[in-house]
Order: sequence, then C-alpha cells, then structure tokens
Amino acid sequence: MPGEAPSAAQLERNFRANGAILMPMSADAPSGPPPGARADWTIDQAWDRYTETEHQVWITLYERQAQLLPGRACEPFLKGLDALDLHRTGIPDFARINEELRRLTGWTVVAVPGLVPDDVFFEHLANRRFPAGQFIRRPDQLDYLQEPDVFHDVFGHVPMLTDPVFADYMAAYGQGGLRALHLGRLRNLARLYWYTVEFGLLETPQGLRIYGAGIVSSHAESRFALDDPSPNRLGFDLERVMRTPYRIDDFQQTYFVIPSLQSLLDVTVNTDFAPLYARLAKAADIPLAAIEPGDRVFTRGTQGYARAGGRTGKAA
Ligand code: PHE
Ligand code: FE
Repeated sequence: MPGEAPSAAQLERNFRANGAILMPMSADAPSGPPPGARADWTIDQAWDRYTETEHQVWITLYERQAQLLPGRACEPFLKGLDALDLHRTGIPDFARINEELRRLTGWTVVAVPGLVPDDVFFEHLANRRFPAGQFIRRPDQLDYLQEPDVFHDVFGHVPMLTDPVFADYMAAYGQGGLRALHLGRLRNLARLYWYTVEFGLLETPQGLRIYGAGIVSSHAESRFALDDPSPNRLGFDLERVMRTPYRIDDFQQTYFVIPSLQSLLDVTVNTDFAPLYARLAKAADIPLAAIEPGDRVFTRGTQGYARAGGRTGKAA
C-alpha cells in the first residue's frame, strides 16, 4: 500500500485515469522513505501475502489484455510477455521474473510502496532497476485507478525491458532524468517519458503498434490509441515532443509515432539535451491537440472524443 495520501499537486503531476498510469514521479519536498521502506524506497514484495482476490484481479486484467493485444502491441512487447511468462498464477513473483530479466538485459524489478521522489526514481532507472508498485488495484477499480499498481508497472512496463534497445533507452532516460533535475528542465524531459515510455506508438510494415505502458495496461486506451478517429497520430520529433503538454486525466489527444526503437535510442542518446533545454526554456508550449507545419501526420484527429467532454462527458 502507498504510505501516505498524495497531495493534490502530486496527483496532478502523476496520475491519470482509465487504468493507465504513468510515472511514479512525485513529492515536492521528499521527506525520506515511508516507515518500513529502505533508504532507496524499496520494500519486500511479500509475494506470499497476496490474497486470492488480489491474484484474481491480476488474472482478470491479464486475460482481458492478452486477448486484445496481439496485432496491437508491438512484437518486442508480446515477445517479452511470453519470455517472462507473466500470466502463470496471478501476480508474478518479482524474484522469478528477475532471473529471466537479468539474464536478458540486466534489468530487475524492485518493489516500492507507491510514488517515489524523482531523484530516487531516476537513480533506480539509471542502474537498471524498475520500481514497481507492490499493491494491486481493487476488483472495483479494473478500469480506473489513480496510482501505478503492480499491473500497470509490471504488465505495462516490464515486457519492453526484455528488449535490449528499449532496455538501454530506459537506463539512459534515468541518467538524463538526473541531469534534467539538476538543470531544472524536468518539465520538458517528463514529456519525453510520457509520449514514449507511457503512450508511444511504433510504425511497422503491418501498421501502427503500441509500445507505451500506459496504453497496453489500459483496456479502453489499447483500442482508442490505434482505432479511434479522435486523436492525432504524429511522427515523433524530440524537440516537438518536449514542447507538448499532455493529458493526465483522460485519453491522449495526440500520440507520437516512432519509426523504430533503435531510432528513439539513437536520437535521445546522441543529442546533448543541455542546449535543447536552453531553447525550450524560452519556447512556447504547443497546445496538446495542435498540428504544426513540420509534423508528419499519420492521423489528423477529429478530437471528437475530447470535444464531447472525454471520460466525464461520456459518463454524464
Ligand atoms: N542525451 C540526454 C542528455 O543529454 C540524456 C537522455 C538519454 C535523455 C536518453 C533521455 C533519454 O541529457
Ligand atoms: Fe508507468
């Protein structure tokens, strides 16, 4: 369970709806790890203590997504899902996953109580440790919860970490995160994480495929992101993405498409972000549904979903 209730500011920065949650980034004035957590905020997964009901939530979510994702998620994700054999008995035992994951890419999953401070999060990533929420959502929260739980973190993020290129990208992002913190430009770098790690799409000869964890772990967004006429789908451009704010409370209004995982790794690792940050500090943000003259347009979205009020409009 998460230690303390997050502040409104944390909620705004860190959470979203639709069961698709993001970066466990947080706390303005980190006050140290909660009671029971280690100095690096990790805790024991205590796998033996999950209840039958909790395992059943995993199985329900897993089966729903496993049905939907072939032909939608990219090959590296589906391959990773298989390699880790995540569906076995319910919530996976991190110790078991880690044997295979360590062998494949040198990554491990570590349990955390919930949100961790930015610097702690980046430090873990830079050292190829992925912090995953230990708890799982309740049965009445299958489609909606505010915090990253073990289903989002492990089902959503960990399969991609079996891919050597993506594994390198995530570790490089961790280092980049520490640097952005230092330079005071986390606001821009967070958008890169958002539009790639959480909500990224990949162009393949068979069509667009999902690699973003926020999409693959959300039943509704797994369809919306690829099939709905509402959102824009635009070619990825590093600086453009870092100028684009994002939705934390509903489906994205724009998705960015990369031509390959390798190209994402290359452009981010080979670009010195310091001069870019300097430019971005003075550049205006691009409204989140805008299409710019230089954009490569895969889909010019109708924005019908957002205009109709999104999740709340639909519910009303
Ligand atoms: N090259 C980036 C920098 O100079 C670091 C980075 C790498 C950031 C990969 C994100 C992803 O800060
Ligand atoms: Fe996430």
